[in-house]
Amino acid sequence: MSSLDSLIVRFAPQDPDFIADPYPVLNQIREATPIFWNERSHQWVLTRFHDIAATLRDRRLGRSYSHLFDHEEIGRTKPDPRWSSFHQHEQWSLLCLEPPDHTLLRRLVSKVFTPRSIAALRPNIESLSAQLLDDCQDLGTFDLLRDYAQPYSVAVICSMLGVPRSDSELLLGWSHDIVKMYELESDEATKIAANQAAAEYIDYTRSLIAHKRKHPDGLLISALVQVEDEGDTLTEDQIVSTTMVLLEAGHEATVNTLGNGVRALLKHPDQWERLMSGQVDAKTAVEELLRWDSPLHLFERWVLAEGVEIAGQTIPIGDEIAMLFGSAQRDPRRFSNPDRFDIGRGDSSHIGFGGGIHFCVGAPLARQEIAVSLEGLVQRFPSLSLAQEPQYHPTFVIRGLRELLLTT
Ligand code: HEM
Repeated sequence: MSSLDSLIVRFAPQDPDFIADPYPVLNQIREATPIFWNERSHQWVLTRFHDIAATLRDRRLGRSYSHLFDHEEIGRTKPDPRWSSFHQHEQWSLLCLEPPDHTLLRRLVSKVFTPRSIAALRPNIESLSAQLLDDCQDLGTFDLLRDYAQPYSVAVICSMLGVPRSDSELLLGWSHDIVKMYELESDEATKIAANQAAAEYIDYTRSLIAHKRKHPDGLLISALVQVEDEGDTLTEDQIVSTTMVLLEAGHEATVNTLGNGVRALLKHPDQWERLMSGQVDAKTAVEELLRWDSPLHLFERWVLAEGVEIAGQTIPIGDEIAMLFGSAQRDPRRFSNPDRFDIGRGDSSHIGFGGGIHFCVGAPLARQEIAVSLEGLVQRFPSLSLAQEPQYHPTFVIRGLRELLLTT
């Protein structure tokens, strides 16, 4: 086995020891090679920042191939009909579309996510955060994820969409089951649970849409139902997928950024102190939280044209590429002293929100939600500390803690 091969086998997304701290292995592989073939997932894996940033913008690649090719044409098998609800739920998701469908839906959704309209939500977001932190204060020791970050980010996205907050527990359960399908490998039980959750989620959303048709409220679902954007109209399936991707994408990564980020801050008391003293403001710190311990570690693209060459490797049409975001965020070619957690870095052009046409539509909202939370935490809990050493979920693509128990 070559020394590169023996390094590559250490890339083990199923291994809890690797997940506990993947960065030393990712650093070694990235320094050894910009690209490698992963036999287990049958993907070309990219490790370096500049290649990944360019790949995200390369229109010869796409998040799906079905707008151009049949499954057979591109050498792939049809999606397994047993998981049809899961596939249906993402059929019209922005994350799975390419132009022209992507362009239409993205234009409609972007309207409610402009920095200006997000800034207007700030008082509402601050008050949601304050209510939940009051409750945490009463508890003394609390789980930042269960008691704060999850209810907070679900409430924010529900209030934008016009989903009753009383349904947030249902949504959280469905979303947790569904996103496990995005790991590189998932077992039968996980797939069954994800498909069942997607089926229930679809039914729920369809009745919500029916309700909004009768009782419009001016919020996002209502707006999508009523849309008359340059003559375009949306089908119910499109509205279902759009609503669902916003609910899912709208909280999982935000919750995990808060969990991973507050853990990092408390593990680096000098950085917590900089935030507390106001030497670094919360808005600046958010960027380093996203970079240093990324909540999302891997995104994929299909090669849709002949002649694609990345990092010196020619990649045939129909092959799949996996981009290691967590590795790119620690690339010394892009960030000086990249393993150092420095909340004053102030570098907002990291790769945490992606790039190109799929750049995160929720980025202004996520940034604001996290900044408001950090402000609330340092104001109320100057002596905040870890009540116990937190553990990560045994998942690689979506990186987050099982719980984060804190003492006030
Ligand atoms: C810290 C939190 C977040 C992170 C790190 C994050 C990260 C990302 C990334 C990396 C992508 C690009 C995926 C790709 O290129 O394949 C993306 C896309 C997306 N994100 Fe986020 N996101 C966050 C929060 C949010 C929020 C709060 C929302 C909505 C309320 C949201 C909605 C979306 C949507 C709809 C897309 C697909 C956009 C498209 O394909 O045009 N995200 N996000």
